Amino acid sequence: MACPASSVCPWIRPGVRVQVIGIRSVAKAAFEGADNVFNRAFTPAWNPLCHLGTLGWFFYWIVIVSGIYLYIFFDTGINQAYESLEYLTNVQWYAGGVMRSLHRYASDALIIVMMLHLLREFVMDRYRGSRWFTWFTGVPLLWLVFACGISGYWMVWDVLAQYIAIASTEWLDSLGIFGQSIARNFLNNDTLSGRFFTLMVFIHIAVPLFMLLVMWIHIQRQRNARVNPPVGLAVGTLGMLLALSLARPALSQAPANLDKVPSVIDFDWFYLVAYPLLDTIPGQTLWAIAGGGSLLLLLLPWLPPGQRRATASVDLDNCNGCGRCVEDCPFSAVSLQPRTDDAAFSHEAVVSDNLCTGCGICVGACPTATPFRRTSELIPGIDLPDLGIQELREKTLSAIANLSGNARVVVFGCSHGAGLEQLQGADVAVLKLPCVAMLPPSFIDFMITRGHVNGVFLTGCADGDCHYRLGIEWTGQRLAGERDPYLRKRVPRERIAESWAGITRNKRLQQELRTFQDRLRALPPFKRTPHRSTGVRAGEAAEHHA
Ligand code: HEM
Ligand code: SF4
Ligand code: SF4
Repeated sequence: MACPASSVCPWIRPGVRVQVIGIRSVAKAAFEGADNVFNRAFTPAWNPLCHLGTLGWFFYWIVIVSGIYLYIFFDTGINQAYESLEYLTNVQWYAGGVMRSLHRYASDALIIVMMLHLLREFVMDRYRGSRWFTWFTGVPLLWLVFACGISGYWMVWDVLAQYIAIASTEWLDSLGIFGQSIARNFLNNDTLSGRFFTLMVFIHIAVPLFMLLVMWIHIQRQRNARVNPPVGLAVGTLGMLLALSLARPALSQAPANLDKVPSVIDFDWFYLVAYPLLDTIPGQTLWAIAGGGSLLLLLLPWLPPGQRRATASVDLDNCNGCGRCVEDCPFSAVSLQPRTDDAAFSHEAVVSDNLCTGCGICVGACPTATPFRRTSELIPGIDLPDLGIQELREKTLSAIANLSGNARVVVFGCSHGAGLEQLQGADVAVLKLPCVAMLPPSFIDFMITRGHVNGVFLTGCADGDCHYRLGIEWTGQRLAGERDPYLRKRVPRERIAESWAGITRNKRLQQELRTFQDRLRALPPFKRTPHRSTGVRAGEAAEHHA
């Protein structure tokens, strides 16, 4: 059972929770450390560690395209399969050979990125609460990818295929659910059945197609899910695979001969990693381990330490059905539905509690969530119950009340980024949000043009790795005037700074804040705009363009 909306899970002893979180923080820091290295090598936009899911799709397509080419020349007869691949590798090496190598290396690369992707989503804690669905549908992909790879090696019908055929069928037999022993098919050359081979070819074609369906389901809950890596990363990866294919072409081993036991075989550790265990662990035990492991993975989203944020709620009196929250929610948790009250608008926003992660990005998108509003209560169309926009305005005003100096800064940071407490000072106030994109741009306007502070500093997760997927991107677009709600042009951009530091770059964050403050000190004093109401109500034009 998932824990209720609170920061501490009651189903688990506090000490244990601290330990689990401690291990996760170390793993998260390790990922971010690797990210920093890769960012330097590839730039943040092309960092492969931040594009593991899209790389998985990319490798899948390489496997499919190269597989179609191979299938055109592949002879599915048990005695001809080996020969047809030898032809492709040796005679048609410039096309068929390259395609075969691409097929193999892209399959290996798919395993690597899939495993890293799984680990990353787990470590970054992006699999619980309403995100369970994407995790849950990822688990069958593990089985499907392995089934594709194993059946592929089988079709080559060399000594490795012979080993796989015998080991796999003996393992299947240990289940005890098949009437006849399947392994008997591979006793010797005479018992070998061509039909079984045809079945393998069928599996090798059907499973990838089914996998495509599961991959599609896997991303259904992600709004604007990306399935293509950035062009530069795609070209670079394809280039690397091509270079590897030319330098070390994929080859068959000696042809299979069931009358002989092969003494030496080259192994593919990506797909066959579990096979050596079959020599030491009874088949049924290995089934129990594989099945139990998968079940554990499936249940992980509901296992402690669970944590779920309170979900967003809509206030109909302040919702005009503009749909910006729908556009910006990264988890497709808000929809527009026909109005249920007698207001003059056709639609209203409706939040699905099952899908909502409580990130607050919708609040940042809502035109009614503006601190300029003069009404006694600041209730936006959509809000978070555990950190309402009114509470945020009050907290911010109280946090900045005692700031002094000519470089007074308010830092808005997210709870998944670098340590914010260390930034606090005589001229720096810090406010923590679930996601920095919860901050409506009008808040920045309010803080600067009303002279509450000299500058606003935004920080959060590492660049390219927003915990709520799109928070950093939406913030950038809102500030650049490319996405509603825009930051008004009147707000001096030199008084705003961003630093996407993640959890490992505390020093860099402090340094960038100091540099920003130095910049503010060097600026001429800001001329405040006349104090006039810009109150926005649900029915008023909510545009905040300058
Ligand atoms: C062939 C294998 C896989 C492919 C191609 C793949 C691809 C993707 C893609 C494209 C996304 C969406 C990225 C985005 O736009 O935010 C995604 C998200 C996700 N994947 Fe996979 N995936 C695979 C396997 C797995 C596995 C094995 C797991 C774990 C069991 C997993 C867990 C997740 C989770 C939890 C998310 C959502 C993260 C979030 O809510 O932000 N995936 N995957
Ligand atoms: S808080 Fe808003 S943006 Fe975030 S998931 Fe819920 S509805 Fe979507
Ligand atoms: S007014 Fe706010 S809550 Fe209503 S649809 Fe627009 S953004 Fe969503």
